Amino acid sequence: MSMPDVKRFSHGSRVPGWDASVDLAKDPQEIPDPATTPVPAELRAEIEHHIGKYPDRRSAAIPALAAAQELHGWCSPEAFVQVACVMRLTPAYLIAVASFYDMLDTTPAGHKRVYVCTNISCSLRGGRKLLSELSDAVGDDPDVQVRGFECLGACDIAPMASINGIFVGPIESGEVAELAQQVRDGADPLPAKQLLKRPSADPQANSKHHDVAGTDFATTEAEIDRPAPGGSPLPAEPSSFGTPMGHEDPEDTP
Ligand code: FES
Repeated sequence: MSMPDVKRFSHGSRVPGWDASVDLAKDPQEIPDPATTPVPAELRAEIEHHIGKYPDRRSAAIPALAAAQELHGWCSPEAFVQVACVMRLTPAYLIAVASFYDMLDTTPAGHKRVYVCTNISCSLRGGRKLLSELSDAVGDDPDVQVRGFECLGACDIAPMASINGIFVGPIESGEVAELAQQVRDGADPLPAKQLLKRPSADPQANSKHHDVAGTDFATTEAEIDRPAPGGSPLPAEPSSFGTPMGHEDPEDTP
């Protein structure tokens, strides 16, 4: 089995850069006309939901583009026009934003996104081998993209991967075939290894808030489902990480 090199751009980095200059021969872009630009109602509602969270609507560009990518599979020209129409910006403004973030695909790409962390903590625990094995196991499925990625901030579950935004780890070599099949099938990836389900000092850590938009995290006190005083939603059973906070045996407490 060959170990693939982690993809690098021509400037040597693993992330895209500003290596394409502005085309000054083109006419300035215009904000799409709502009267002639059809936007799916759900996408419009989600973008407006994100806009409502910020004092400046441009701050919602990334979540709005992510919503359009979710709908279209990638940030297609149509997706840029639809987001621009709702946000009252030019498509060029949004393209400039999207081209800076490599989780936003500006060329056609598999809509099932598998990011295998190959940064230091994960590499030390076999992250690059995991990337290689998972890439081989998924094969040439055009719906799936498997990529090496920089630190995803979940180093404590190294080696880990993000499967359509669900963090799983530590992934064992013997679990790769099962995970690849779950990715292809769109099934819940390695349920027992999901960061979402690990005991945490913060019961809302990495928990998704299923609101109208369906993709947002809880942001207000009212939205956050905190445990009742004296109680906790954490499981009482001890785990390999010790007894969850709030469930200590009084006799063990000094
Ligand atoms: S090094 Fe892999 S999540 Fe941080």
